[in-house]
Amino acid sequence: MTDHGAVNRANWDERAPAHAASAGYGLERFRADPGHLSDVVRFDLPLLGDVAGLEGVHLQCHIGTDTISLARLGARMTGLDFSPASLAEARRLAAETGTDIRFVESDLYAAVDVLGEGGFDLVFTGIGALCWLPDINRWGDVVSRLLRPGGRLFMRESHPVLWTLDDRPDGLAIEYPYFETAAPLVWDEPGTYVETDVEFTQNVTREWNHGLGEILTSLLAGGMELTGLVEHTSVPYEALPGQMEDVGAGEWRLRDRPERLPHTYTLQAVKRG
Ligand SMILES: C[S@@+](CC[C@H](N)C(=O)[O-])C[C@H]1O[C@@H](n2cnc3c(N)ncnc32)[C@H](O)[C@@H]1O
Repeated sequence: MTDHGAVNRANWDERAPAHAASAGYGLERFRADPGHLSDVVRFDLPLLGDVAGLEGVHLQCHIGTDTISLARLGARMTGLDFSPASLAEARRLAAETGTDIRFVESDLYAAVDVLGEGGFDLVFTGIGALCWLPDINRWGDVVSRLLRPGGRLFMRESHPVLWTLDDRPDGLAIEYPYFETAAPLVWDEPGTYVETDVEFTQNVTREWNHGLGEILTSLLAGGMELTGLVEHTSVPYEALPGQMEDVGAGEWRLRDRPERLPHTYTLQAVKRG
């Protein structure tokens, strides 16, 4: 575990129980309704298509709400994350809902060592995953090596343009790197992206942006073929507080001329045979 990883993991470990208890993640809806899917996976459905019977891995699965949703759609799922507290919440929800999922504790970059090479039909990731990774080329290599030939990456992620923006309430300004940088952006923020009364103490994070070209190039270098790239005008959290409106189904959009900003993107790629 790198120093960066230890700092970030402490942040995630502290937030996982608060996320699991939050209305935003809505765990009670999973318990109450065996057909319930996360808003994120529900949004994905038109592009995701049928995943029934696929051997899938959810990278950086956090508390497992999307992982369980994919299992409910019929995929045999593995969830991987480096935060033991996140995985404890994920395992608890899977047990409470009778969902058979393997949850594995590992750094993203060690995923192939832990899960083996070429074992998956589907790699699923996104919505706040890539910003924790210092080296996008190594990420592309991991994704490609986890997949069997013909296997597919499906990811919806916050757009790197969104992550360049300063969120000052008086307007939008490009303030942060678009391209990958050697040094991380270091944040010290007491809150989190869901509503909670919990007061946190592990508030420092180290994060990186990666340009869309860098992300795509990392996958091409790993022997993947691009099969889809769709940019969206909404994001499933209030990314720019005070400047976005809730447009329903868990999605948020810039209130003023949202067509200026690519909020998220869905990227699909297939491993060449
Ligand atoms: C915002 S969550 C993304 C998950 C999902 N979109 C969600 O909202 O539930 C980010 C997750 O990445 C995990 N993570 C961050 N860096 C990681 C790394 N280097 N290896 C494995 N997991 C990592 C964190 O523990 C956290 O659970």
